[in-house]
Amino acid sequence: MGEVTLLTKILRRVIAKKKDPFLFEAYDTNVCFATIPEEIGLYIHIPFCQTLCPYCPYNKILYNKEKALAYQKALLAELSLLHEHLRHKNISSIYIGGGTPTLMLDELQAVLDWTREKFAFLGDIGIEVYPQEIDRKKIAQLKEMGVSLVSIGIQTFNDRQLKFLGRSYMQDEARRTVELVKEADFACVDIDIMFNLPDQTREDIEYDISTCYDYNIDQLSIYPLIIFPMTPLHEMVKKNGLHTFNRFQEYGILKKIAEMSMQRGYDKTSIWTYGKRNGKRYTSITRESFVGVGASATSLFGNYFYLNTFNVDTYISRVKEGRLPINVVNVMSDREKMVFWLFWRCYDTSIDTKRFAELFGREFGREFPLLERFLLGFGLAGRYGDRLELTGNGAYLYHLVEKQYSVTYLNKMWESCMKTPWLEKISLS
Ligand SMILES: C[S@@+](CC[C@H](N)C(=O)[O-])C[C@H]1O[C@@H](n2cnc3c(N)ncnc32)[C@H](O)[C@@H]1O
Repeated sequence: MGEVTLLTKILRRVIAKKKDPFLFEAYDTNVCFATIPEEIGLYIHIPFCQTLCPYCPYNKILYNKEKALAYQKALLAELSLLHEHLRHKNISSIYIGGGTPTLMLDELQAVLDWTREKFAFLGDIGIEVYPQEIDRKKIAQLKEMGVSLVSIGIQTFNDRQLKFLGRSYMQDEARRTVELVKEADFACVDIDIMFNLPDQTREDIEYDISTCYDYNIDQLSIYPLIIFPMTPLHEMVKKNGLHTFNRFQEYGILKKIAEMSMQRGYDKTSIWTYGKRNGKRYTSITRESFVGVGASATSLFGNYFYLNTFNVDTYISRVKEGRLPINVVNVMSDREKMVFWLFWRCYDTSIDTKRFAELFGREFGREFPLLERFLLGFGLAGRYGDRLELTGNGAYLYHLVEKQYSVTYLNKMWESCMKTPWLEKISLS
């Protein structure tokens, strides 16, 4: 058994107190939509890209105009199916991710107009932007659609590394994109950067970070490159090897990123993000409850965590038949729900114990006494009123956990879903 699986097994047994693997089972009617809370986020997945990046684990296919039109109709059909469950709720935010959502802005505009007309929506709209797929016209369109949060997938400003990542633009174009987006005065502009790229030096990383901050962005998301076993990059690395930083160097780099961010007036908002103090955040993955629409979209509310079918054609034909495109569902126990919540609060580097009590009607210290003692006793977190805040070492440890979670759980789940449109079950140990 690899060290990776061992770690997830230990965490499952000790923290989730669960002997058996986490189980996702085929959807029949095993989701109670009445448990959707009063406020809920909406996520819309757009699975189209002009090129497929070799490191990317997300569900995507090559763009095709005809399919994009059929997909738009399918999104509207899925939203209509969910209407009876959502019409009395408040939609608190809409995030549109991909893929490359800006490839089908006209179609998306109609989806957003319909959503505004049929649901109570008061909140921000966020969208992911691929540098080459945006121009002044599209930015004007985003504004017209009411988009206020933009996340630009720059990845790096280094031409050699952009080439390695299979990106179809160079530094100059990346810079022009940031300038264009910044001019448009969105409430939050985030830039996605990746580090731990082959032959990257510490100076290269510092250059990427300074460049982002020189543009006075609102948020920096800086991810370590994760080599998902299911991606073409994994094959390339197996064949040619990959020279990147070791764990000690990575620790130093994360410390340097934190220092540079503090100096520029940015707070740590999660293990991999920094935001302007009191500024708006682009945060599609850390919300407490959300409903996702589109192929591969995930939903989380009540005791349910479920995934739609990943196959785009299957998704389109399923909703055409008037049926929800849900593939597999994990019905969580109360303990699992708490652990899932905690997983994302650790990602945020801050556990609000008052919020924990509000949500679960239990005291955090009584429910997770070992974890609390472990975090405080080993200097991995400090207590500030009702909050436990992860320290630098705590955030580093969690960075390791999150990477392992990605290459084991996420990889297994997404790889199975991409291979088979309708799975009977997925078991994660
Ligand atoms: C949902 S993806 C959006 C990607 C968007 N389609 C693009 O290409 O710009 C969000 C971010 O996750 C990060 N990401 C994607 N694959 C990754 C990997 N294998 N390791 C680390 N970060 C990754 C990238 O920074 C990416 O911008």
